[in-house]
Amino acid sequence: MAKQYNWHKIGDAADLIAAENEITVLEVSGKKICCARHQSQLYAFAYKCPHASGIMGDGFIDDAGNVVCPIHRYRFSMKNGYNSSGEGYYLKTYPVEQRADGIFVGMEKSGLFGWL
Ligand code: FES
Repeated sequence: MAKQYNWHKIGDAADLIAAENEITVLEVSGKKICCARHQSQLYAFAYKCPHASGIMGDGFIDDAGNVVCPIHRYRFSMKNGYNSSGEGYYLKTYPVEQRADGIFVGMEKSGLFGWL
């Protein structure tokens, strides 16, 4: 079954949410997430590293658009969460949409609410 999302507006424009190659932490629907901009594209991903819960908001963005965890420096693609440094983990990412009325991030509907 295709994933279903609740979409939340996080701002009016990508450059107001995060500066180029900077990570900002937002709270969306009661959950902390990270947003970062690379080559003018805004991405959203998990607040904590899947390896040992490093705070991804304290990491940095490399030249290739990976977010680098501050603890053990594992790298993850901001596009799809792929662990590009090869340790076999996966970083949760969230879809970001630029719409006429602002920037929206999609949070997956939980299975339970999907049934109600
Ligand atoms: S906690 Fe992120 S790489 Fe280890």
